[in-house]
Amino acid sequence: MKAVIFGPLGAGKGIHCQRLQRRTEVEHVEMGKILRDNKDTETPYGAPREYMEEGEFVPDELVNDIVERVLTEKESFILDGYPRTLDQAEFLSSIADLSVMVYMHVDDETTIDRLTNRRICESCDESYHPEYKPPATEGICDFCDAELVERNDDDEETIRRRIAIYEERVVPVIEHYRDELEQITIDAERPYEEVWKDFSTAIEPHLQESTTLVG
Ligand code: AP5
Repeated sequence: MKAVIFGPLGAGKGIHCQRLQRRTEVEHVEMGKILRDNKDTETPYGAPREYMEEGEFVPDELVNDIVERVLTEKESFILDGYPRTLDQAEFLSSIADLSVMVYMHVDDETTIDRLTNRRICESCDESYHPEYKPPATEGICDFCDAELVERNDDDEETIRRRIAIYEERVVPVIEHYRDELEQITIDAERPYEEVWKDFSTAIEPHLQESTTLVG
């Protein structure tokens, strides 16, 4: 499967793709995490941190270069956070043939509620929420025992700027793919397990024959 996933901030893209990766051969390629892990790396376009902490996109050239290196020889992946501009989409089509697009939807107020309270694992990037998806031990990741921290770009002002940029730049990319790819649409406003049930049921036919996700 060569898939791409879209949806507003806080739709749960990261959480569901991580769960998919833990259970299947599909690799979760998350541009936001790659950039966070390299946020202080100096490049000809500056360091990713300069853009990310303001809620701005990092330059296309930088993310295109990363994705080309990361996707080399990957047979099965779900791309999360890329492409986010039409130029990135054009570049992607020159290096990979996508098979399906997943679109998860939530409203802006849900985005704000989920992200202002989000905590992430500083090691594996797993997402938690004190009310909707609490860790077994407060402040500690269920999977790798590392500390949970707040993301630098999860304050309300930056979130609202990220929503505006999403609407201006990413929505046209989604429209572009609607005509080109099979689309799976998920209502992500509902509780986490209900969203996972729909997500896994819709994804399963695209996986290797031996893989069972549902149940
Ligand atoms: P990125 O890391 O991709 O951030 P984002 O787009 O803002 O996406 P989120 O991680 O906020 O959303 P998500 O849907 O994955 O949320 P999650 O699963 O954690 O990008 C960060 C930055 O990197 C960008 O702003 C930009 O600067 C840069 N960047 C990245 N890619 C780039 C590119 N291609 N080009 C240029 N720049 C780029 O879920 C969120 C919360 O909700 C969690 O707390 C979770 O517990 C909770 N939750 C999830 N589902 C449910 C549910 N069903 N019910 C209740 N709570 C739920």
